[in-house]
Order: sequence, then C-alpha cells, then structure tokens
Amino acid sequence: KTVSLWGGRFTGKVDPLMEKFNASISFDKRMAQADVVGSQAYAKALCRSGIITEHERDALVNGLQQVGEEWKNGTFEISPRDEDIHTANERRLTEIIGSDIGGKLHTGRSRNDQVATDIRIWLRDEARILLNILKELIKCFVDRATKEIDVLMPGYTHLQRAQPIRWSHWLLSYAFYFKADYERLEQLISRCNQLPLGSGALAGNPFTVDREFIAQELGFEGVVPNSLYGVGDRDFIAEFLFWSSLTMCHLSRWAEDLIIYSTAEFNFVVLADAYSTGSSLMPQKKNSDSLELIRGKSGRVFGDMTGFLMTLKGLPSTYNKDLQEDKEPLFDAYDTLHGVLQIATGVLATLTIKKENMLKALSPDMLATDLAEYLVRKGVPFRETHNIAGRAVRLAEERGCGMNELKLEDFQNLHHLFTEDVYDIFKYEKSVENRNAIGGTSRKTVEGQITLLENWLA
Ligand code: ARG
Repeated sequence: KTVSLWGGRFTGKVDPLMEKFNASISFDKRMAQADVVGSQAYAKALCRSGIITEHERDALVNGLQQVGEEWKNGTFEISPRDEDIHTANERRLTEIIGSDIGGKLHTGRSRNDQVATDIRIWLRDEARILLNILKELIKCFVDRATKEIDVLMPGYTHLQRAQPIRWSHWLLSYAFYFKADYERLEQLISRCNQLPLGSGALAGNPFTVDREFIAQELGFEGVVPNSLYGVGDRDFIAEFLFWSSLTMCHLSRWAEDLIIYSTAEFNFVVLADAYSTGSSLMPQKKNSDSLELIRGKSGRVFGDMTGFLMTLKGLPSTYNKDLQEDKEPLFDAYDTLHGVLQIATGVLATLTIKKENMLKALSPDMLATDLAEYLVRKGVPFRETHNIAGRAVRLAEERGCGMNELKLEDFQNLHHLFTEDVYDIFKYEKSVENRNAIGGTSRKTVEGQITLLENWLA
C-alpha cells in the first residue's frame, strides 16, 4: 500500500517517474547526521513545551541516536519510498520505536523549517573543515616565502616585465588573497549559523517551542526572527557559492601564473611529478594538469553559483519546491573546493624553483624607473625624469646594448646631474631594497608581511 507523508488528502497514485523526479534522497542523505541532531533537539523542545512526556522524549532521542548510528556504520537501508533524508530518518525511527511515539516527532514542525535547519547545520560544520584546509594552504605560502626570501624575479604588469620583485613577495600576494577568503568564510559561517527551526511550514510554531533552547542545543548563534524568512531564505547558500567562486577565482589566477612560469619559455618553476602528467603521444611532454584542472574547475563553480541564483530569483515568498535544487550546487561547490584546496597545497609544497632562470629574466631596462628615481633624488621633477629615462631605454635599444652599458657621457648628454654613481642603480637587489615602504618588496617589508601572517595564523 502507498502511505506517503501527505497521504490523507490524496486518492490517486503518483506517477513512478514523478516519484523519482520528486525525490532528493540520493543527494540529501549527506545531511543525515544534521537531520538526526536537529530532530533530537526538537524532541527535547517538544517535551519542554509539555507536548510529549519525558519518556516519549527519551524514546525519540534514543531512537534517533540509533538511526544516526546506522548511517555512520553504513547499515541504514534506504527504502524506495524514502523521498528525502527527512522522511527516511522519520520512517526508520518509527520502525525502531513504533509509530505511537515516533509519530509525535513532527508535531508543529514542517520539512520546510527542518530542511532549512539541516542545511545550515551541515554547511556551518563542513565549512569549518574548509577553513582548516585553507589555513594549511596559507601556511604553505608563508613557509616558502620565509625560506626563499633571497630569490629575485621579474614582476609583471600586462604580462610584460615591469620591475624586479622578490619571489616571496609574489607568494605572499596570494597568501593575502586567501587570508581574505578565510575571513569571508568565517563571517559567512556566522550568518549561516542561525536557527530556522520553529518556523513551522511558514507561519510559526503553535506549541510555543523554546527556539532559543533549540538554538543552544544545536550550537546556533541565534534564532531566525521571522518564520517566512526562516523557511524561504537560502541566502547563506548563495553566499557560500559566491565565496566558493571568488576563492576559485584566486586559485585559478594563481594556477595561471604557475602554468606560465612552468613553460619552457619562462622555466621559472618545475612541478613535481606527483602533480603532473605526461602525453600519450609526445614522450617529452610534462603537463601541469593539476593547475589546469584548478583553473578549469573554477568555471564549474561559477556555474553552481549562477545556476542557483537563477533558481532563486523568481521565487515567491517562503518555501517552494524549487529550493530542493539548492543542494546539488552546494555540494558540488563544496566538494570542488575541498579537493582543489588540498591539491593546491600539494602543488605549492612540492614545486621546485629555478632561481637562476628568474634572475636571468631580469633585464636592465626593468630598472628604467630606478633611473628616473635617481634624478628625482637630485631634485628633478618626476615627469621630466620619466622622459629622460625613456630616452636612455631607447638609446640602449638602438645600440643593441643593455642600459647599464651606456657610457657616462651618454647619460650626461641626457641630463647634467648624472654622475659615476648612476651605475649603482643597475643592481636588481638594490632596486628591490628601495621599495621599502610598508607593503613593498624589500627584505624588511616582506619580512613584515611574513610576521603579520604568522601572527594571524597563530
Ligand atoms: N526535500 C525537500 C527539500 O530539499 C524538503 C522540503 C520539502 N518540503 C515540502 N513542503 N515539500 O527542499
């Protein structure tokens, strides 16, 4: 016989295709434990309201405990009639403790406030795992930056060689992107960690359950203050999907840098074999598949976000079944980030750098700005010195020599304030050390960034 949750009102049978179409158990079973603890807290609240006895409460709480155990040790058997995780757990609970008591659990509760609660529990707990692995990645950046602070490389704008920088300075730039991502995720968890349970289907709970109590039981920071909002709101998912997208964006840009740096043309870095693959046709190839997949998977996560926003945008107030479409993009983005962050850490930790090649890629013309600044220090206005240095670059180009190989009289023809010490500027280390204001690439200021990050990590 067909007994469904809403069976009372219905006489016709549901099309089996519709039943399958409607079901979410195949993916929402991931929230099994969240659903169990949510129900346990609700049972306790019903008892405090005097709707069920202490004996009934204990039977519900213990029965649910067993349901949770079955999920943990893999013995929970999903029945073909289980539409979603909420119906599955309640069905099993009723089998274990009987329907006389089991049938009381859902009093005053709807799957609408139940599912909203389960997702929030799930996301807040799982997001904390992401925080931990994100921190590992940031540590890895800081470790390398500390060890490799001596290494100089070309810094780029427009992918054109711009000015010499420390390799560590480049590394730390990403550490700061990811620190910001870490902080954004922390803040998002806090907004997610609010209790919708007790909102009922939409209008609120008729048995005056103590929602503050439920919130406390479940580790929520507060109670969603409006029941329509409580059942209809999925902004915390949209926020998480945006967070995932932005974090993937940073990972993708980082990956792109390294893909470029690992080409034969640059040859600044070599990926460990553990994170590369070969070609089935060309024996010499070593491809940076790990980084390409990181870059590629960013597109998929953006898709999760935009797809879900499309789902949300036309919905009328409160719960609509469209909202069941929230879980797959959520889980997909979560799983992608969970994998990618760990792969990124592995890639970064095992990467070899070729510091001689980085150094070789520096060229005297990258010190044209320093040449202009030389005259600035002697009192010439920058707009003028910029032009003079530009002419020095052109002269060197015409002669086919480095700017550092121009004669002193060449410089003096450009401006009378050039003296012998102009040749001192053609030292890359010196150029780097000149960028000594907070945030710059000098040793002292890079060390300052490391200290800042280490204190934050501690
Ligand atoms: N499986 C549903 C979801 O994920 C649970 C809520 C169902 N509520 C309802 N009124 N049909 O959204």
